[in-house]
Amino acid sequence: MGGVLARATTHALVGLEARSIEVEAHLQRGVPAFAIVGLPDKGVQEAKERVRSGIASAELEWPMRRITVNLAPADLRKEGSGFDLPIALAILAASHQIPLDMLMEHAALGELALDGRIRPVPGAIVAAEAARRSGLAKLLCAAESAPEAALAGIEPIPVRHLAEAGAYLRGRHEPEPVGEPPAYAGPPPPDLRDVRGQERARRALEIAAAGRHNLLLGGPPGTGKTMLARRLPGILPPLTREEALEVTRIHSVAGALPAGQPLVPHPPFRAPHHTASTPAVVGGGPGPRPGEATLAHRGVLLLDELGEFPRPSLEALRQPLEDGMVAIARIGGRHVFPARFLLVGTMNLCPCGARGDPGVECSCSPARLAAYRQKLSRALLDRFDLVVTVPRARSQEVTGAPAEPSSAVAERVIDADRRLRERPPPIGEAAASLLARAVDSLGLSARGHARISRVAVTIAALAAAADVAPEHMAEALSYRSPSELAVAA
Ligand SMILES: Nc1ncnc2c1ncn2[C@@H]1O[C@H](COP(=O)(O)OP(=O)(O)O)[C@@H](O)[C@H]1O
Ligand SMILES: [Mg+2]
Ligand SMILES: [Zn+2]
Repeated sequence: MGGVLARATTHALVGLEARSIEVEAHLQRGVPAFAIVGLPDKGVQEAKERVRSGIASAELEWPMRRITVNLAPADLRKEGSGFDLPIALAILAASHQIPLDMLMEHAALGELALDGRIRPVPGAIVAAEAARRSGLAKLLCAAESAPEAALAGIEPIPVRHLAEAGAYLRGRHEPEPVGEPPAYAGPPPPDLRDVRGQERARRALEIAAAGRHNLLLGGPPGTGKTMLARRLPGILPPLTREEALEVTRIHSVAGALPAGQPLVPHPPFRAPHHTASTPAVVGGGPGPRPGEATLAHRGVLLLDELGEFPRPSLEALRQPLEDGMVAIARIGGRHVFPARFLLVGTMNLCPCGARGDPGVECSCSPARLAAYRQKLSRALLDRFDLVVTVPRARSQEVTGAPAEPSSAVAERVIDADRRLRERPPPIGEAAASLLARAVDSLGLSARGHARISRVAVTIAALAAAADVAPEHMAEALSYRSPSELAVAA
């Protein structure tokens, strides 16, 4: 065949994983041309323009040869713009403008701007981990991606421009050292101190956080349901380092990491709008991409105004609620995304919104009310362990003393969480017989029985009790099916 061959290593994202890709540039004599083969999608084909223009802008030479770039393995669909930098470097190595042996010691990842600047691409931490696993010690990447790559235990070589990458590989540029990423610097999560009254809902929030129980807040508009739900992440136990890395990988792949904040240290909070598509909520599309359910992994997923969500989105959430993951079938395999989140729903108790408001008469007809409840999937409502109504507050509550801050609640939650993991309180005999009687009289399912038991164990752990007493069981039972919310029996 003849000609010159050079190789660069990069990584392609497949779901949440990175696969190693060899970028081979083959230069032959003949009519100048440039082709990319190896199942590139349209976005990767567009690399041709960026690479050609980037090389010219870096004052490097575009080889007047027949250039073929092959992305191997060829059976894997290649998406995205992260191939630009390795393609450019392979062409530069094949045309002897950078040393091949030096290039072989590095993985490379990055998009090229037409002026040769190198831009970050999603999933840098995942690509860096894969590069390290395949025995490479260094990753050439955009400066913005370098802190993420450092988290993966690889040495990032931050490069701002293709000219800089070329100079570095020729030994004429010393890369900047990349330190540990800064500790979380974003705004603090909203605080429970702001919520007046609503003691019962606050208590339910605390139980939900301690035992990771799904929570449904029902009530008339304007009573603080959304406000309360948004304060749940602030009382959850902080993520461990391992959990933080797991969440960071997901958010990196989804392109959802805030700039300058490579590590996600807090439980995430996601609140998709009810107009979001089903793939946006549970994941999907080509790739496929993680959805809100996966972005909420180890944190909170809020479905605000639950009744407004289309039925297919709610049905699609049943799998993650049951199994803590989303499985997406694709030709050539199945993708599994983790999706273990705490679900919080809010809803009006009726279409007119007056139910649960002592001062206003509900104007809904029985038929309209029945249709409203029908719309909510019984199977989904069954997944809420805690159901509370958030009533219209009396004025003295609203003007009363400042409420307990999230930090105080979080302390109790962290204690209870530790007890639940180390030595969960067993269910005492008296509590068990109370539950048995309730199951008979309420006609609860086996699932309902198990859920109430779990909530009772959490309540006992919050009380630092040796075992679950009848009072704990009674409180757990009280969060099921109040009369206004008969939908969630
Ligand atoms: N219990 C409360 N304590 C303090 N402010 C409240 C409370 N309930 C409602 N508010 C105020 O009313 C606004 C609307 O509350 P919101 O949480 O959106 O109500 P809902 O979701 O129940 O319709 C809040 O932004 C807040 O300013
Ligand atoms: Mg609301
Ligand atoms: Zn009504």
